[in-house]
Amino acid sequence: MKDEPEQPVHEIEKRNIEILRWRGEVNRETQGDFAVLSQPLNLPCGVQLKNRLIKAAMSDSLGDGEGNATKTQMRLYERWADGGAALSLIGEAQTSQFFPETPGNLVLTPDANLVALKALAARGSSNGAHIWPQLGHAGALSHAPISQAKGPSPLNLEGLQCEGMTLADIGTLPEAYAKAAVLAKEAGFGGVQIHAGQGFLFSQFLSPLFNHRTDGYGGTVSARFRVIEEVIDAVRSAVGTGYPIGVKINSTDKLVGDLS
Ligand SMILES: Cc1cc2nc3c(=O)[nH]c(=O)nc-3n(C[C@H](O)[C@H](O)[C@H](O)COP(=O)(O)O)c2cc1C
Repeated sequence: MKDEPEQPVHEIEKRNIEILRWRGEVNRETQGDFAVLSQPLNLPCGVQLKNRLIKAAMSDSLGDGEGNATKTQMRLYERWADGGAALSLIGEAQTSQFFPETPGNLVLTPDANLVALKALAARGSSNGAHIWPQLGHAGALSHAPISQAKGPSPLNLEGLQCEGMTLADIGTLPEAYAKAAVLAKEAGFGGVQIHAGQGFLFSQFLSPLFNHRTDGYGGTVSARFRVIEEVIDAVRSAVGTGYPIGVKINSTDKLVGDLS
């Protein structure tokens, strides 16, 4: 069998290896383990990320308070792109103005400022990088001063109260996520991530502690996953087959009796 040609070592990888070598944690054998970080990643939809460095979604609270992108936010994502990341995820871009995680979240609804979103997408895509909004809904953890929190089931605990969603409420979610994804695509973002982690709405649906429903959206794991599946299907139909859709799910909620 012919040997594969050697991959060029990316500058970032060289720097990482130097740091680890300095700490005595890398040698000639382990160096190869890091080479993969600089290699492109081909997504199943056909899009390629230029390397394996992804800036995880972090809610930045840099929106203007009305759900729109700001110059400070544009600068932040441009810096990450210039730093060499293949993809930066914008944490907590909301699919409705009524259930945000904080007032500084972006809100991707039809009345969003498209000019500002386009500028954010363009600057966050510098240096061949991707920037994707993480499409969210805070559910039971919606920011109380500006929301009437609603989760999969009603809760009345100290510091955590919410109403339970009706079937009609759940029925609005696929279209809201699909519309937000179409807006993201129109604005020039390279893909979207559906937020089903970190304790927010879809994470709550997955969680037996938050989800006590006895209808088709609660009970078994597949019933608790059902709304997420419906949202993925709606988003995929709306954006087409060639557009990246990621889903973030916790591997564990670190609570007794919760998802793990
Ligand atoms: C300041 C901060 C904000 C975060 N905001 C989000 C968020 O909006 N959405 C999300 O899915 N995760 C959020 N996270 C979690 C990270 O994306 C990541 O999952 C977490 O930090 C664990 O990864 P690590 O082990 O590499 O730190 C946030 C983390 C931090 C530190």
